[in-house]
Amino acid sequence: MSQNRTTSNDIVIEAWNTVLFEKFTRFRHLFVEGYSRHSDEYLKRSPYPSGTTVLDIGCGWGDTTIKIAESVGPKGRAFGVDCADNYIGICNADAAAAGVDNVEFFVADVESEDLGGPYDAAFARCGTMFFNLPGLAMKNVRKSLKPGGKFTQIVWRKREDNPWLHDAELCTKAIVPVVSHDETDAVHCGPGPFSMAGPDMVSDMLQSIGFECVGFERYDVDMCIGRDINEAVEFALDIGPTGEIIRLAEEEGERLTPQVREALMDKFSDKVRDDGSVWAGSSSWFVTAYNPR
Ligand SMILES: C[S@@+](CC[C@H](N)C(=O)[O-])C[C@H]1O[C@@H](n2cnc3c(N)ncnc32)[C@H](O)[C@@H]1O
Repeated sequence: MSQNRTTSNDIVIEAWNTVLFEKFTRFRHLFVEGYSRHSDEYLKRSPYPSGTTVLDIGCGWGDTTIKIAESVGPKGRAFGVDCADNYIGICNADAAAAGVDNVEFFVADVESEDLGGPYDAAFARCGTMFFNLPGLAMKNVRKSLKPGGKFTQIVWRKREDNPWLHDAELCTKAIVPVVSHDETDAVHCGPGPFSMAGPDMVSDMLQSIGFECVGFERYDVDMCIGRDINEAVEFALDIGPTGEIIRLAEEEGERLTPQVREALMDKFSDKVRDDGSVWAGSSSWFVTAYNPR
C-alpha cells in the first residue's frame, strides 16, 4: 500500500495504475472486443464530424480515442485522458504504431485537474462509472466543452440486464463474504460498473451541474466473455464485482476461489456456443447531454 495517499480518490487512482491495470491488461482482448460492440454502435449512429475536437474521458488503452481521431480526420483532433499513466504509455505506443497523428494523450484526474479545451465534444466509454465524485468530474468535463458541446457517456444499465457481469457476481456472493470499501485498507475500483445505471439519478446529476437536453438510448448486445469456458471463468474471477469481492476478502477470498470456480463453470455451461466460445448479454445506456450555448 502506498504511504503517499491523501484522498479516497488517490486509492482509486492507485488501483487503476496497479492491480486493476494488470487484470484489465490480461483480458484486454475481451474488453476491447466486448466494449467495442457498444462504442462502435454509438459511433456509427453519431459519428464525430470532420474537423472537430473530442476529449475521450477515462480512455484506458485509447482504442476509442484512435477511432474518434480517424473519424474527425486530419483537420480535427482527438484527446485521451486517463488518471493511470500506465494506460497512457500504451495509448502513445499504439497511436504511433497505427500511424495516427491527430491524437494526443495525457494523464489527469478528471475530478480535479485541468482538462484543456475547449472541445467540441467529450466522450466516455465505461470511463465515468468509477469516479468517486462523479458530479465534480462532470462539472469539470462541462468546463472543458465549448458552448453547445456534446457529452456522451456509454455506461452499463442495471445489473440484471448485464448477465455478463451479474451472473458471476451472484454466484460469488453466495460463497464469499462481501467486504465493503469502508471495511478495508486495500485499493479498490471506486463506485463500480453499475453506479451510473439509474437514468433519474444520472439526469438529475447532469442537469444540476448545468448540462441540458439529457437523453438516454438503450443498446443491448451479446458479448464474448471467453474464447473457451476456462477463459470465461478466469475472466469472471479476475474482473468486475466478482474480482473485487474475492480480492477484498483477502485470504478468505483465496480460500474460497476453487468453490467459486466450480460454481462459475456450472453457471456458464449453457452460454457456450458451438465453437466453444462463451457469450452473455450486456446492456448499456448511451447518455448524451449538452453544454448550454
Ligand atoms: C473500465 S476502464 C474503461 C477504459 C476505456 N474507456 C475502455 O472503454 O476500454 C475505466 C477507466 O477510467 C479511468 N479512471 C478512473 N477514474 C478516473 C479519474 N478520476 N480520472 C481519469 N480517469 C479515471 C481508469 O484509469 C480506467 O482506465
